[in-house]
Amino acid sequence: MTNNSTSMETKTALLVGASGLIGGHCLRFLLEEPSYTRVTVLVRTPLTIVHEKLVQHIVDFDDLEMFGELLYTDDVYCCLGTTIKKAGTQEAFRKVDYNYPIKLAALTQHCGANQFLLVSALGADPHSRIFYNRVKGEVEEAIRKISFTAFQVFRPSLLLGERKEHRTGEKVGAFIMSGLKYVLTGSLKKYRAIRASNVAKAMVHVAQMNLNGVNIFESQRIQEIADEAS
Ligand SMILES: NC(=O)c1ccc[n+]([C@@H]2O[C@H](COP(=O)([O-])OP(=O)(O)OC[C@H]3O[C@@H](n4cnc5c(N)ncnc54)[C@H](OP(=O)(O)O)[C@@H]3O)[C@@H](O)[C@H]2O)c1
Repeated sequence: MTNNSTSMETKTALLVGASGLIGGHCLRFLLEEPSYTRVTVLVRTPLTIVHEKLVQHIVDFDDLEMFGELLYTDDVYCCLGTTIKKAGTQEAFRKVDYNYPIKLAALTQHCGANQFLLVSALGADPHSRIFYNRVKGEVEEAIRKISFTAFQVFRPSLLLGERKEHRTGEKVGAFIMSGLKYVLTGSLKKYRAIRASNVAKAMVHVAQMNLNGVNIFESQRIQEIADEAS
């Protein structure tokens, strides 16, 4: 008898930052992705979206270790982040962009997760003199040491997309970037602004590639992958 059925790997995803710009798009793509049978989100405030694959849990990220049984998953998507302005202090910023992702990575790896996908940023560098870039570089480095089978790092440039809140700096940046688009060619392409939806699309696409080890995706590559996935 000929077996014509095609086997598809099924797995589960855990997403943090689902209420954010990249995270919101990521959730949409995760729910559409057939290889995921369940998508768990850890949020501070409930999302209004209802879907048969979606499981929501309200958590306090300070007490993540108390939510042990929720942390069993295959792929972990970390789209958490804040701004120094919003957080109020560098310390408060660091808590969201450094402490929480590392804690999530350590706990999920302990629970058997194979793949961790992190939204970092263009210019991430643990030795940078710029605080934001340094924190992003440090979080990448710390999660690298946790030794997931697969660790995918996404370093987008300035994000484009509709936000509920107003961010003047981002709007000005997007305006300048739109003028610079045709100047930023060759190796400078990674500085081009990128749609948050394309970052999310690339993340979900990369997660299906079975790429082991540490893989870093600069903004231009993220754009290319999103184009390939469209
Ligand atoms: N903006 C840019 O141009 C840019 C460029 C490159 C890289 N990035 C990076 O990309 C990532 C995602 O950015 P984004 O613009 O999509 O983020 P965003 O829209 O600001 O969303 C941030 C997410 O993090 C959550 N979060 C923030 N503070 C939290 C806290 N104290 N406890 C628990 N959750 C918290 C938010 O949840 P709540 O809704 O509960 O607050 C939200 O889900 C960030 O790491 C950012 O640094 C941004």
